Amino acid sequence: MADIKAVATDARTPPVAVWQILEKLRGQDLIDWRLAEVKGRASVEERSLNIGFPFGWYPIELSADLAIGQVKPLRYFARDFAMWRGEDGKVRIIDAYCKHIGAHMGHGGKVRGNLLECPFHAWRYDGEEGVVKEIPYARIIPPQVRRKCTRTWHVIEANRWIWMWYHPEDIEPLFKVENLPEAANPAWTDYEIHEWNVWGSIQNMAENGVDVAHFKFVHGTANVPLGELRWGEWGRGADVKAKMGTPWGEVDGGISYDTMGPGQSWTRFTGISETLLVACVTPVELDHVHARFCFTQPRAQAEGERAGVAKALIRDICKQFDQDKVVWDRQKYQPNPIICDGDGPIPQFRKYYSRYYAQA
Ligand code: FES
Ligand SMILES: [Fe+2]
Repeated sequence: MADIKAVATDARTPPVAVWQILEKLRGQDLIDWRLAEVKGRASVEERSLNIGFPFGWYPIELSADLAIGQVKPLRYFARDFAMWRGEDGKVRIIDAYCKHIGAHMGHGGKVRGNLLECPFHAWRYDGEEGVVKEIPYARIIPPQVRRKCTRTWHVIEANRWIWMWYHPEDIEPLFKVENLPEAANPAWTDYEIHEWNVWGSIQNMAENGVDVAHFKFVHGTANVPLGELRWGEWGRGADVKAKMGTPWGEVDGGISYDTMGPGQSWTRFTGISETLLVACVTPVELDHVHARFCFTQPRAQAEGERAGVAKALIRDICKQFDQDKVVWDRQKYQPNPIICDGDGPIPQFRKYYSRYYAQA
């Protein structure tokens, strides 16, 4: 939030501690700060972040950003991948390194039909079976690569995103990607996307929503009702009803938050303005998370007379993320935190979230 007027009408109380860092950031400086690497942070070991990555479906890339015949390198979950869209329109992801002499196939690889051709000597990989199907200059394909020789990853497209199933072992998906009808509805806007690099852990980030005490100190909000918490088999959520102040008086608002696994998270706001937030949060390294918040609103509202209020809601959510990021960027993982009575259901969250880690 940049201008003085916006700050003055903000529901938040006095400058919170992180404000000292954020208050001078405007426009492009703020965007740069959101993405820039935090240098000089403590190591993964010192911060106890070496706990692996939780398994689940994760958003990887916008569907529109991968055309038929296009190959892209990816790095997520401390691994390298090559991703391509075959001539049949299907997206495939395999481990990046060629079994021949080790080229990274995401850099300079080509799509041949539905196969991925390595840039080094043109070996051609199948994205389903994980085998080499063709070697243009060889009469015989070596038996070691004629059978499954590289890991292939489950991919689906939903909600205008490419999703990948991550599990440290090669285990079939245990749940689905939820379809969000608004994302496919032409009466809703294209995504407005805001992006961050967080130099911390996805679990610490997920814990934020149940950490009731931090709202006052980090976000400056007086009381945040936790709402009705829902704890399902693979997903959890909350429904919060709140009175929201607007220029035309108080409005009954609702916030409905849902997750499915650690990588799918979406929130529906009603009241001031209808908004769907698809929070795309994907780990890159044990101390690096790539976050992209995708907002969509009914076109009639986003282009109507209350467009300013609809925009302000998005700005406010992004500001909250900025404030949390200041903490997350340096936060350690405390496996046995000392909890006091005003803390909210952090232990319950921890116990729940532990299901997303493969047992050693
Ligand atoms: S390294 Fe890939 S074909 Fe030789
Ligand atoms: Fe927060």
